[in-house]
Amino acid sequence: MAARDREKWNRKFSEMPDLLASRAPSALVARFYREAPGKEALDLACGGGRHTLFLSQQGFHVDAVDISDVALAKLALKVDPAKVRCIESDLDHFTPASDRYDLIVITNFLDRALIQRSAAALKRHGIMIVETYMDDPGNEKQSTNPDYLLQKGELETFFSKGWEIVASETFWNEDQEQYRMRKQGIAVRKQ
Ligand SMILES: C[S@@+](CC[C@H](N)C(=O)[O-])C[C@H]1O[C@@H](n2cnc3c(N)ncnc32)[C@H](O)[C@@H]1O
Repeated sequence: MAARDREKWNRKFSEMPDLLASRAPSALVARFYREAPGKEALDLACGGGRHTLFLSQQGFHVDAVDISDVALAKLALKVDPAKVRCIESDLDHFTPASDRYDLIVITNFLDRALIQRSAAALKRHGIMIVETYMDDPGNEKQSTNPDYLLQKGELETFFSKGWEIVASETFWNEDQEQYRMRKQGIAVRKQ
């Protein structure tokens, strides 16, 4: 599985180098990163690293994790290694260190078990931001495996106990993306 995922994403990043261009951070990340109680961040499935780059510019130390060595090699050229660690790993089998981070970001990637495993990695009062695509009849791309799409209201169900929901939103994705898709995002604070 890991080898197939790596191959698939390396191919995408190689065929569409634009995916590795520096892009604007998600609006939720830009609005809520300041609520993190400290400066240790984790960017899971970082891809081109738009959040890693943004957060390191805001003074965070970032652990940036992805399966694609192509994406990470490109990202490594753009960051200060004293501030950003690029970690090549299959998130299917990745459990971040406990009580380690002030901010965790997971965008445009859905692994329900990973969201749950990552909760223990946040410090008390730490902020987690999760944002990704929804199953929606208005989506321009209908071929996506439904397992990788959120159902309406689903994100909130991961954070029902022990969390403060700071923001929870449904919206159409940014113009910079290839297909127009419905998205859901949440920012939560660990109690
Ligand atoms: C759509 S991109 C999202 C990139 C970034 N989070 C963003 O919002 O710009 C999805 C990323 O997930 C990574 N990915 C896919 N499967 C993975 C896995 N099993 N383990 C780690 N990363 C994976 C891909 O390499 C790709 O960089």
